[in-house]
Amino acid sequence: MNAPSKRQLNIGAFLMRHGHHVAAWRHPDTDLEGNVFQVFKRQVLAAEKACLDAVFFADSVALTNGVPALEPLTLLSALAAVTEHIGLIGTATTTYNEPYHVARKFASLDAISQGRAGWNLVTSDNAIEAQNFGREQHVGHAERYARAREFYDVVTGLWNGWDDDAAVNDKAHGQLYRPGSVRRLDHHGEHFSVAGPLNVARSAQGHPVVVQAGSSEAGRTLAAATADVVFTAHPALPSAQAFYRDIKQRVAAIGRDPDALKIMPGLFAVVGQSEAEAQDKFAVLQELVQPEVGLALLGRMIGNFDLSGHDIDGPLPELPLTNDGQRSRQQLLTNLAQGENLTIRQLYQRIAGGRGHFTVIGTKQTVADQMQQWFEEEAADGFNFMAPQLPGGLDDFLQGVVPELQRRGLFRTAYAGSTLRGHLGLPKPGRAHA
Ligand SMILES: Cc1cc2nc3c(=O)[nH]c(=O)nc-3n(C[C@H](O)[C@H](O)[C@H](O)COP(=O)(O)O)c2cc1C
Repeated sequence: MNAPSKRQLNIGAFLMRHGHHVAAWRHPDTDLEGNVFQVFKRQVLAAEKACLDAVFFADSVALTNGVPALEPLTLLSALAAVTEHIGLIGTATTTYNEPYHVARKFASLDAISQGRAGWNLVTSDNAIEAQNFGREQHVGHAERYARAREFYDVVTGLWNGWDDDAAVNDKAHGQLYRPGSVRRLDHHGEHFSVAGPLNVARSAQGHPVVVQAGSSEAGRTLAAATADVVFTAHPALPSAQAFYRDIKQRVAAIGRDPDALKIMPGLFAVVGQSEAEAQDKFAVLQELVQPEVGLALLGRMIGNFDLSGHDIDGPLPELPLTNDGQRSRQQLLTNLAQGENLTIRQLYQRIAGGRGHFTVIGTKQTVADQMQQWFEEEAADGFNFMAPQLPGGLDDFLQGVVPELQRRGLFRTAYAGSTLRGHLGLPKPGRAHA
């Protein structure tokens, strides 16, 4: 059934402690007591059993929505030890890190996991992070992206400072590495001065996969120049298609192969045995949204604005262009509110689950139909699946939708390789012996 030549979906599982719905923690089935690592371990093993490409962890270096979150690299390193195939993607901000640290930590995860690491490169969008790093506010949007671009150059420069075949391990002649195979970087830029070399060698996939999230004009430029995978948010097919076309054209315009960049929008799906059961499951979560929580979520997602002084049953006020948040999401949410004439309450209810990402509520066939349409009509190369509530929402997807996609020949039934690049169909970067 799985003709190997047929183009297939790439699917990641974007995991959050209780699930993606903002009220998931209040759901009767959500385990608030269990050991957090054991909870994630069970989910990642389930995702690996379903042959997913990767698990994905977002991050903020501040307490967000009141929910504690483990540091992704630490968590992924532990998960690497209990898995064999699945890719391990974590977020590290370019705004509050140093590139040497990021290069080294992800190269270490790549070594520990034998080529399954991915770095989600972001510019911080959560305003309260600044105050954990000696600042009152983030630096501005353009400045964050300029730093991100140089950050990427340093990180990949450090990774590429090692040849794939550097090790000779010649005890007799007293030589660990072939001369010239490990090079200094000597980067001197506007934001960073980094000598190198990195103190971690290359991995089975060369170096970690680079994922990029951020879809404003500056975000798209960065994605086209740097990303292996783009994670993006689109509520409906037309905007996803326009984004897909735009990114693939930008990639081609700078001489990169458009097939070597995978576009994976988020997908928030509630799966039921019937359409009515799926709607009921969603309604249970929607009823648990507290107004102050919904308002805070909306305020943050729409660019870090405090909406508490506005009539919750009135229209969304006009807001200035965000400088410390996500411009693409601000646009998306503003379009949504204007397009459907939503009040503030209706808008936060609308995004309480998927935060503006593509949302499907229905049977496994309905969800698979939508995924197939986005895939075949050039809106997506794959999806980052966002379970409404854990573990039930993930199990529904892995045990219902994934087999349905496999039956249609749209998704693998076994891993063909062992690296994340292999799963994604991406070439190995860098160079062997120069
Ligand atoms: C789908 C998606 C996921 C994102 N995940 C994170 C994240 O986990 N942590 C973070 O700090 N920023 C995250 N961001 C925001 C990025 O940091 C982005 O670089 C920044 O907010 C600017 O977004 P913009 O290009 O749309 O203005 C995400 C953005 C998108 C679109």
